[in-house]
Amino acid sequence: MSKQRLQSKVAIVTGGAGGIGAEAVRIFIENGASVVIADVKDELGQKYASSFGSEKVSYRHCDVRNEKHVEETVAFAVEKYGSLDILFSNAGIAGPLSSILAFDLNEFDNTVVVNLRGAAAFIKHAARVMVERKTRGSIICTASVAGSVAGCAGHDYTASKHALVGLVRSTCSELGAYGIRVNSISPYAVATPLTCEALDMKDSEVEAAGHALANLHGITLKASHIAEAALFLASDESAYMSGHNLIVDGGFSVVNRGLPCIKN
Ligand SMILES: NC(=O)c1ccc[n+]([C@@H]2O[C@H](COP(=O)([O-])OP(=O)(O)OC[C@H]3O[C@@H](n4cnc5c(N)ncnc54)[C@H](O)[C@@H]3O)[C@@H](O)[C@H]2O)c1
Repeated sequence: MSKQRLQSKVAIVTGGAGGIGAEAVRIFIENGASVVIADVKDELGQKYASSFGSEKVSYRHCDVRNEKHVEETVAFAVEKYGSLDILFSNAGIAGPLSSILAFDLNEFDNTVVVNLRGAAAFIKHAARVMVERKTRGSIICTASVAGSVAGCAGHDYTASKHALVGLVRSTCSELGAYGIRVNSISPYAVATPLTCEALDMKDSEVEAAGHALANLHGITLKASHIAEAALFLASDESAYMSGHNLIVDGGFSVVNRGLPCIKN
């Protein structure tokens, strides 16, 4: 059996009922962690938690827009498993793909409340517990390539993910004094319920669209690749990394093919 990289650690994974979060839950468990899945998809989340047949996984209804839910979820993790070492703040929504000329500001508010304010609420309550208990914890937020590059998602989403990268850097600047690390992961397109619903496509169609624009060929980006990046940032293997935005995009965001100059 491979080394368990999160032996005796306690993690909360928001948006853990499906997609990238669900893969992170599986990989964290395989690596010895106890995990609280925090999501609003109760039936799916509960079923997924029970599928492990282990006391080390729990499901908790938590709408990240509601600070009380967030505080209670953090308290639940500490009460049930004795500490909180890892927060994977991953819940997110795609938001609309509407033109700025027809912008719905209520939709904008909702995207920002879930993708940014929800992460801020979780960082606040997780960090409070980590500071109080002197836990040198790891906080990881799922941002996006749309957190660095424009034109690959809606305005709401792009703005919320740019701001999330800023929030990660800002909170890293305060929490370093307590030994707490704060990082983000920025994935390129992965076929999950979020992308399939936003684009009204099947998994295979999302993956084909991803391939068409990808820099790195011969591989399909899967939720498990992002979960592996989360495992790295959660584990002691990244012990001196903080304030980092780990972009998992096969080079997509650093390459501009507008001026092709290399012939091969
Ligand atoms: N799939 C991609 O291509 C991609 C790319 C870049 C970044 N991301 C980011 O990855 C993260 C995970 O997305 P995914 O692709 O796995 O999508 P997903 O829809 O499969 O998972 C998102 C989860 O978040 C939960 N969620 C949504 N609103 C919530 C709320 N208010 N409170 C609690 N939970 C809530 C959903 O119920 C769902 O289980 C998101 O932050 C997303 O923005 C995804």
